Amino acid sequence: MTSATDFIFETNTVKEPQVQQGIFTWSAPSNIALVKYWGKKENQIPANPSLSFTLNNCKTITTLHFVKKEKEGISFDLLFEGQPKEAFKPKIQKFFERIVSYCPYIADYHFTIDTTNTFPHSSGIASSASGMAALAVNIMSLERTLTPDMTPDYFLKKASFLARLGSGSACRSITGSVVVWGEQADVDGSSDLFGVEAPFEVHPNFSNYQDVILLVDKGEKQVSSTVGHDLMHNHPFAQERFKQAHHNLSELKNILQTGDLTQFIALVESEALTLHAMMMTSMPYFILMKPNTLQIIEKIWDFRAKTEIPLCFTLDAGANVHVLFPEKHKEPVLAFIQKELSKYCQNEHFIHDKMGKGALLIQ
Ligand code: DP6
Repeated sequence: MTSATDFIFETNTVKEPQVQQGIFTWSAPSNIALVKYWGKKENQIPANPSLSFTLNNCKTITTLHFVKKEKEGISFDLLFEGQPKEAFKPKIQKFFERIVSYCPYIADYHFTIDTTNTFPHSSGIASSASGMAALAVNIMSLERTLTPDMTPDYFLKKASFLARLGSGSACRSITGSVVVWGEQADVDGSSDLFGVEAPFEVHPNFSNYQDVILLVDKGEKQVSSTVGHDLMHNHPFAQERFKQAHHNLSELKNILQTGDLTQFIALVESEALTLHAMMMTSMPYFILMKPNTLQIIEKIWDFRAKTEIPLCFTLDAGANVHVLFPEKHKEPVLAFIQKELSKYCQNEHFIHDKMGKGALLIQ
């Protein structure tokens, strides 16, 4: 699968044209990027490759009910936590419009999409990655019903390909636990079209790697990721940044294999700050960190210097802080977070997560 046209569904391959209705439920997790995707070309092609850890507890659970209809066209109802949610419909409508040329059969069905998140709504955690991934795997379950001899490899790649068209980072939420998206010379099988599981052995230091998400600001972001990506087009440092991301991904590949946590910390924190540096040097410029984001970073650096426990932070496109650390240091780090960091979070709220395995068919 080397070009988008490889994912166009051939209507003449349908083996089960009589499928009238059905229902699937999938869960799909969020993910946290270590080498960041920031900047994109047309059709959701990333300006640089990225690498993420798939999460385990922060996920979206989506049920897709489909019924064959007479008239062709995109048609769906959307429920969020069991209640109709008009506000979420435009994003899904756009997603269906983007994927219909790859999945023409979606125009033959009326869908009821019922979706919930395991993390609180408006917690500042973007649900677009887990949400779009959960919807994409459901659509692929329908496609597999029409063409039952589909290979598992095709299922996962096309699910990631479709999720990408909903939200770029969603393509890294289909499988676990270390995922690369974007062409990178020294990562076999890597592609701009979909995410792939890291094709190398990851050192046991990273097994069950922990991620505590500190909810510094649960409000709506002032600048969306989509706008931020766009500002990379005329950005004075863009070309250097894209080069650096390739370089950092090569480095991180080595670090993940050798298990060198000191190098890991330096690279991951530098990537997080570079992402925010790109925002601060865009035109117009913007700052998504809050004073408490910086307070937390300072505290993490202090604690690391004092205890020599290898914890570090990363940031996504917002004020929240992800604290990353090896499982064996769980107890002292959680005690530190509770005592020293939770006070910088809204309502002292944080979420304890860890590396996970990707999307799961529930029904
Ligand atoms: C900072 O995937 O949310 O989290 O493709 O426009 O939906 P769209 O953007 P999105 O961007 C995520 C940016 C990031 C870094 C990352 O996850 O790699």
